[in-house]
Amino acid sequence: MKSTPSKFGKTPHQPSLWTRADALKVHADDPTTTQPLVSANFPVLNDEVFIWDTMPLRDIDGNITSVDGWSVIFTLTADRHPNDPQYLDQNGNYDVIRDWNDRHGRAKMYYWFSRTGKDWKLGGRVMAEGVSPTVREWAGTPILLNEQGEVDLYYTAVTPGATIVKVRGRVVTTEHGVSLVGFEKVKPLFEADGKMYQTEAQNAFWGFRDPWPFRDPKDGKLYMLFEGNVAGERGSHKVGKAEIGDVPPGYEDVGNSRFQTACVGIAVARDEDGDDWEMLPPLLTAVGVNDQTERPHFVFQDGKYYLFTISHTFTYADGVTGPDGVYGFVADSLFGPYVPLNGSGLVLGNPSSQPFQTYSHCVMPNGLVTSFIDSVPTDDTGTQIRIGGTEAPTVGIKIKGQQTFVVAEYDYGYIPPMLDVTLK
Ligand code: FRU
Repeated sequence: MKSTPSKFGKTPHQPSLWTRADALKVHADDPTTTQPLVSANFPVLNDEVFIWDTMPLRDIDGNITSVDGWSVIFTLTADRHPNDPQYLDQNGNYDVIRDWNDRHGRAKMYYWFSRTGKDWKLGGRVMAEGVSPTVREWAGTPILLNEQGEVDLYYTAVTPGATIVKVRGRVVTTEHGVSLVGFEKVKPLFEADGKMYQTEAQNAFWGFRDPWPFRDPKDGKLYMLFEGNVAGERGSHKVGKAEIGDVPPGYEDVGNSRFQTACVGIAVARDEDGDDWEMLPPLLTAVGVNDQTERPHFVFQDGKYYLFTISHTFTYADGVTGPDGVYGFVADSLFGPYVPLNGSGLVLGNPSSQPFQTYSHCVMPNGLVTSFIDSVPTDDTGTQIRIGGTEAPTVGIKIKGQQTFVVAEYDYGYIPPMLDVTLK
């Protein structure tokens, strides 16, 4: 770590807490916060690859941006192995569920382009094999920097370790499509420090990933959100009065919830290019509530900071639960205090009849929410499922004050641009 003094001198803020009391207000199947049922007859973008986390190209202010009329998205992607003996079951049939579940270990960044903001065409891999320093290329954010088409891709280099990195390249357009050039030199930015953010040595199940850089609309500085866990040895965290919140009698028992320690991290850039970063204390912690607050991102609206993050049922702590989906918090200034949207935090969850239908929601500033299809039941008992690995129908939400409402559903993978940049 560099020894440059902090821009702030001392800790600039106290993390806001997502409490157990807040989480007790989470209710699956409220129609205003539940994603419409995804049909098992969904179309698949490409049957040679699985895709999941989708990262639309955007500018540093968060606007989804097309270039010369072409929309561009990046996705975490893995090959499908229908003919690989390793993925055949005892009867010789392709075990697509196992192939899908193994995808994280071979995740690579791919890109896609479109004239219509849907019907995406596969562009290919962003980085050639051997460019990225680790096996796994995990989620992040592509930022269009200028009218020359330069793009900084921030992402997470995982296994060994987990490092927030960036790689610079350029988007090139023709009448027929889009290609990405460059993306040849990956620059490591930072790793968990063990003081604010938990390290692998402190917890083998630590999370440190998913960078989302942005310019604060109020102070104009460059920051970055990321997913972390609160520093400290696994099992050493305290779930006290503050983490419990104002619970009714009979709800004081926290069980083993000390093992759930998610947080939304933030770093500030020391330079304008975003090559030199300083981690700051988390914006939001979920100790005793949930172990993962993934892919954190903002929507800046009405002078407020809407902080969104995705989470799972299986990562909730003892005594609290909620659906897989996107959760949100709002504050009047960047460093909070943040309060949970809709009282609970839940913004868009899966219906309980299809608990794994979608995940990895990204709320865009136009209120559209993109996600991917994970698995959808194909019979009434839910024992037969169809694996997705493709784009889900986009959902429209309205954000009003401290509340959100599901108001619309659009086509599969519909990610329209908010701005178009003509390249020079
Ligand atoms: C969300 C996520 C990200 C991570 C990636 C790994 O779906 O868990 O946090 O970067 O998927 O595949």
